[in-house]
Amino acid sequence: MLLFSAAPLGVFIASLPASWAVSIAEIQGVSFQSPYAGQLVHDVTGIVTAKDRYGLWISGEPSPDPRVSTGLRIYGSSSLRSVMVGDLISLSGRVTEYRPKYAPNDLFLTELDLLRDIVIHSHDNVVEPLVLGRDRIPPTGQLSAADKGPDGWLSVPNNVTLLESLNATLQPDVYALDFWESLEGRLVTIPNPVAAGFPNRFGSAWVYGDWPMVGKNSRGGLTLTSSANGAPDAHGGAVLIGHPLDGTRNPRTAMGVTLSDITGIVTYQYGNYHVLPFTAFNITSVPKEEVSPVTFTSSHPCEVTIGDYNVENMGPRSHHLHTVAEHIVHYLNTPDIVFVQEIQDDSGTKDDGVVSANKTLSTLTRAIAIASKGKVYYDFANVEPVNNMDGGQPGGNIRVAYLWRPDKVSLVPGSPIGNATQATQVQVDRSGKLALSLNPGRIDPTHPAWIEARKPIAAAWQTSSGDRFFTVNVHYNSKRDSSSTHGDARPPVNGRNAHRATQVNVTATFVKSVLDYDANASVVVGGDMNEYIQTRSVFVSFEGLLTDINEVAGVPPQERYTYVFDQNTQEIDHIFVSDAIAARGTSVEHVHINTWAESTGAQASDHDPSVAKVWVCAQEMHEQPEDLYDNDYLTNEQTVL
Ligand SMILES: *[C@@H]1O[C@H](CO)[C@@H](O)[C@H](O)[C@H]1NC(C)=O
Ligand SMILES: *[C@@H]1O[C@H](CO)[C@@H](O)[C@H](O)[C@H]1NC(C)=O
Ligand SMILES: *[C@@H]1O[C@H](CO)[C@@H](O)[C@H](O)[C@H]1NC(C)=O
Ligand SMILES: *[C@@H]1O[C@H](CO)[C@@H](O)[C@H](O)[C@H]1NC(C)=O
Ligand SMILES: *[C@@H]1O[C@H](CO)[C@@H](O)[C@H](O)[C@H]1NC(C)=O
Ligand SMILES: *[C@@H]1O[C@H](CO)[C@@H](O)[C@H](O)[C@H]1NC(C)=O
Ligand SMILES: *[C@@H]1O[C@H](CO)[C@@H](O)[C@H](O)[C@H]1NC(C)=O
Repeated sequence: MLLFSAAPLGVFIASLPASWAVSIAEIQGVSFQSPYAGQLVHDVTGIVTAKDRYGLWISGEPSPDPRVSTGLRIYGSSSLRSVMVGDLISLSGRVTEYRPKYAPNDLFLTELDLLRDIVIHSHDNVVEPLVLGRDRIPPTGQLSAADKGPDGWLSVPNNVTLLESLNATLQPDVYALDFWESLEGRLVTIPNPVAAGFPNRFGSAWVYGDWPMVGKNSRGGLTLTSSANGAPDAHGGAVLIGHPLDGTRNPRTAMGVTLSDITGIVTYQYGNYHVLPFTAFNITSVPKEEVSPVTFTSSHPCEVTIGDYNVENMGPRSHHLHTVAEHIVHYLNTPDIVFVQEIQDDSGTKDDGVVSANKTLSTLTRAIAIASKGKVYYDFANVEPVNNMDGGQPGGNIRVAYLWRPDKVSLVPGSPIGNATQATQVQVDRSGKLALSLNPGRIDPTHPAWIEARKPIAAAWQTSSGDRFFTVNVHYNSKRDSSSTHGDARPPVNGRNAHRATQVNVTATFVKSVLDYDANASVVVGGDMNEYIQTRSVFVSFEGLLTDINEVAGVPPQERYTYVFDQNTQEIDHIFVSDAIAARGTSVEHVHINTWAESTGAQASDHDPSVAKVWVCAQEMHEQPEDLYDNDYLTNEQTVL
């Protein structure tokens, strides 16, 4: 490596008072924190690789030890004014492990401050960047040795260890955080970068370069998938690209966009490792593939298509309402039933005591009818919440709701619709078939699991052939208060995971009550669960009762996603089915109409919709009588509620 290429090395060595010299490698050491933290050090020598408003970075003599960084942040602007990139300098100062007071979960950045005795030895020296993927290869797998537990960084309990208190010896070939820490302050090149998603709220973009990554989806995003031992891969090889050092602005990224090579400095800021590029990258290509509409429809009374869509805070006057209606018609193929989440009341976010969503839902169903050119009319049902008791934006009263096509399915008649506080129960009705006491009705709505949370609603349905099946539409607690995956708390805090685990448990208890009556019941549970399937602790109560429909349908693991956050493309919206449905086989497609948007501003919702096809009759598929294929199998009696 050409470290001091243009510098006359003899001059450099001769200028050092040997007894006081501390190398950058010695300052950085082999652990997260410097062995010299808090100490004054003298004659620290290196070539200036980059400058910003607050100081600069220098690169010291190479180290044979890959755990040791040979880059260092020098903090102090006024005293460094005359120092230029390419200068070989030596200086004295204090070694500091810095993190901002307002960010107690950040990792420390090793710096030199209280600068003195700055000497410029020569100009125009060149430091060659480390080429990532060639000179150093980011590890796949886990982020940190401190993420103990069967689910790696998603294990519970969270925040058992503080990484900085542990101050472990770095293992950069095994753990991604150790890898980036071992490069702290160094000049690196990311060859052939690909963006994993949209810029974050600071305008930084997650990218990965020309090195092995697991879970790469067809678009170029990084889907959370499980490794062979069941622990999720954390995509630690992806890193944030911060604001360019020369004051230019990076273009906005989107999933799978390719970028010009990035050269810059590895640092830690705003809770994550970053590379600060010298200058803005360019977008070199955008993915060509268009979003495909769902490839199937239902063609038999026993076959039911079910859409699932979190429509993001939708009120009757929402701009995106018509776009969502277009999606339901042109991309979801107007499924027989649509589970929607985040339907606001009729006055939107106005906090005025209104809880009815009839206007929101009728505006949406009318927009769908128009988008389908009058071909498809949906009915709708929801259970009105108690004002401001279900969380979300104050006054919005978001809730889950069902839309369905009365030409395809109907709610089992004979039971009233539930209210906010009544729990629906499974029962046998006069015809001797399974039904719900309230249809649709909430599941155990007074259970503490649902304090300030959206209550799931269950429904009993029948097909035009008279067969019955059950659905549960859920919207579990969000991940609010989660901590950074690159933060001090290990495993990182997965906000409200315990709430979601309890909500899954209450849902599972209801499903079990149906299956206790009829082990062969057809049950579909779907919605925005705000959790990855890889967080097994949250979904444990579904085990043995319900199966992830992706497993049944055989969707490739890297294509299972409905959301993109940070470096991870992820599935937080799920559809689970009972054994009877699984045994008959299913289809499911995730429609990436929003995760593939060119920007967040172009998204109709932050979630992608999905559509499943399930067979809900006990009758075997091969027993399909010919006449059921006739289009006029529907009678008025069967569609009357
Ligand atoms: C961190 O580890 C290094 C190397 O083992 C040690 O010299 C240093 O004192 C440790 N720092 C703290 C704060 O424990
Ligand atoms: C992790 O736990 C420590 C106490 O051990 C606490 O001070 C800190 O705030 C917690 N971090 C997060 C992100 O919750
Ligand atoms: C980006 O493109 C502009 C215009 O072609 C060019 O001047 C600039 O050098 C490019 N930047 C990079 C990092 O390639
Ligand atoms: C909303 O519609 C339902 C069902 O049609 C009806 O029972 C209810 O009274 C309506 N609510 C309002 C506020 O109009
Ligand atoms: C729901 O109905 C029950 C039974 O009629 C009633 O006691 C309860 O007050 C109702 N809850 C609400 C929120 O209206
Ligand atoms: C469930 O269905 C299977 C296959 O059709 C059948 O063999 C079994 O007897 C059914 N079990 C119950 C409890 O109805
Ligand atoms: C719900 O949780 C309780 C307590 O952990 C457990 O005993 C029960 O089996 C769970 N229910 C289901 C359906 O998994």
